[in-house]
Amino acid sequence: MRETPVVSIRDVASHAGVSMGTVSNVLNQPELVSDATRARVLAAIDELGFVPNHAARQLRRGRSRTVGLVVLDVANPFFTDIAKGVEDTIGTAGMALIFCNSDGDRTREDAYLDLLKEQRVQGVLITPVDDASSRLLRLRDRGIHVVLLDRRSRNADLCSVSVDDRLGGELAVRHLLEAGHRRIAFVGGPVGLEQVRDRHTGAVQAMTGAGLAESDLPWLDTPALTVAAGRDAAARLLGAPRQNRATAVFCANDLLALGVLQGLTQQRIRVPEDIALVGYDDIDFAAAAAVPLTSVRQPRQRLGQTAAGLLLGEVNEPAEHRHQQVVFEPELVVRESSRRPLTPPTG
Ligand code: RIB
Repeated sequence: MRETPVVSIRDVASHAGVSMGTVSNVLNQPELVSDATRARVLAAIDELGFVPNHAARQLRRGRSRTVGLVVLDVANPFFTDIAKGVEDTIGTAGMALIFCNSDGDRTREDAYLDLLKEQRVQGVLITPVDDASSRLLRLRDRGIHVVLLDRRSRNADLCSVSVDDRLGGELAVRHLLEAGHRRIAFVGGPVGLEQVRDRHTGAVQAMTGAGLAESDLPWLDTPALTVAAGRDAAARLLGAPRQNRATAVFCANDLLALGVLQGLTQQRIRVPEDIALVGYDDIDFAAAAAVPLTSVRQPRQRLGQTAAGLLLGEVNEPAEHRHQQVVFEPELVVRESSRRPLTPPTG
């Protein structure tokens, strides 16, 4: 298909019989141009179908008016809720979002970071696949500011916004222990993800705090934090001999928990009567589930707004900016999926 020729600012100037500087003034400082000349130039722009290339001008100035957001799984509403918070903040600053999905793959993540560098973004907000701080600090050495999302930075020179995932895991399992459960399973993975490890650590703290052993909390590792991985985990849970079967399950995020719920329901296992269930994030689908899901709430839009605010501060006032590692507290939201059964489980 033949591409239509791109109309340049030179074409507009020639068509209107003015200099390219006059066309530029009409586009950027119209108050400097007489009404008659401005009308002639605007008519030429309209007749030729000229489209100003703001991106080219911004790149010539050094930085585009864009921010990159790199997330682990664009199919997870946790990240789209975060993206909304980011957009709320950068939108008021006249900037746009470039939304990248690493899909938990380090190679894809690196490719997106290279692309964002080429696009001269003002900065990058990222939930990294692994401990990426050295790579991210190299980005900053090239003038691209970086803020970690959903992950606490160990490096004081890197801003981050996260939730206290250890406390979140502790809240979830303490709730199940108080409901009388003693055989509780943790479903989550990959174990390489720090958020998952921290939630598990908090869960173990709740178990040992109740005088139980870490071995009383079997960990069903999953290849991803998805509904499909949750369905597979449900089959594994039901594969245990009935007398050893968990009476409660804490999942590392809501998508896993919704998958476990689906898997159990398909096998006619009742939630919470036979097996209680707790998720993490409190995405909108948690409350809307067939059995409303108890979940550990993360303030997703606030996470996005706060991270974007830190980034804009670093971009606009680099001399005054002080790096911060902001940590929000999670909140347990109790719903049907873990309500105390009439007769305490024989866990
Ligand atoms: O970022 C890793 C996980 O933490 C995501 O799956 C999201 O659900 C959050 O809970």
